[in-house]
Amino acid sequence: MTNPFFNRDVISIREFSKSDLEYLFKTADQIQTLQPNRRSSLADGRLLGVMFFEPSTRTRLSFEAAMLSIGGQTISIIEPKTSSTEKGENLHDTVKTVESYVDLIVLRHRMEGAARYAAQVAEKPVINGGSGSEEHPTQAMLDIYTILKERGTISDLKIALVGDLKYGRTVYSLLYGLANFNPRVFLVSPPELRLREEALSDLEGKINLSQHTDLEEIVSDLDVIYMTRIQKERFPDLVEYEKVRGTYVIDNQLLSKGREDLMVLHPLPRTTEIKPEVDSTPHAKYFNQTIYGKTVRAALISLILNKEI
Ligand code: NCD
Repeated sequence: MTNPFFNRDVISIREFSKSDLEYLFKTADQIQTLQPNRRSSLADGRLLGVMFFEPSTRTRLSFEAAMLSIGGQTISIIEPKTSSTEKGENLHDTVKTVESYVDLIVLRHRMEGAARYAAQVAEKPVINGGSGSEEHPTQAMLDIYTILKERGTISDLKIALVGDLKYGRTVYSLLYGLANFNPRVFLVSPPELRLREEALSDLEGKINLSQHTDLEEIVSDLDVIYMTRIQKERFPDLVEYEKVRGTYVIDNQLLSKGREDLMVLHPLPRTTEIKPEVDSTPHAKYFNQTIYGKTVRAALISLILNKEI
């Protein structure tokens, strides 16, 4: 199979097939086994432009760590107030400028459509590091990779996506990605934070979905809980946020009703939705996700930059 990522933008996970994703995961495994000098030749002399207009810890640092681990380097705009954006420069001109220095760009922006727009403007490949509440494709890639590494399969697993299914962009990318792997998915949210209608109809017939409000009721059935943070910053009205904050909390008492091998994932950051007591249980896999994230992103960058590895 020829490398399906070479020189491509990564805007939506919907643009990649099951075999594309498997190719990425195979490469992630393979990169781990390379000798250090071989690994650091994958992006030798190449530069990643990091443009983050929204806060980030894991996505940005794992992209940077990934790029360094394969021999590349990074330059970044991470505090828009210190860039010409603050002087009124538009996204078009900022993207054109950054791309003139780098080999590829990763962009995070509060607006839906921003990543796609940047990809149209730039000739160099653009990776979507999170576009408003729309998508976060590389997070889904690492989420799926985590489940595969930890469980060996996704087919027929019972996976609950819990919390803010309306504004959580990781949820959308994950659902579109999971649709390739045939799991059974439980959508658990307060009525106000249900998955957006357009996604529900897009996914119809492509993935086995059911909607719920009560997590406790279904917990004994589950293989994976994918917990999410209520996206306070995306609510048009904070009064609405106050109504739903703290709706779901995972603690050891809840987990004692679940299977022994129930796995808890979270893209992080968490606020109050997973109690720290869970961290030391075998259920907690959210810090493993952060490690897999670096591996998957190193593989993705390598595949975008090199026709053959
Ligand atoms: C997520 C994001 O930015 O969408 N975080 C991440 O990239 N790991 C989830 C969130 O902010 O809640």
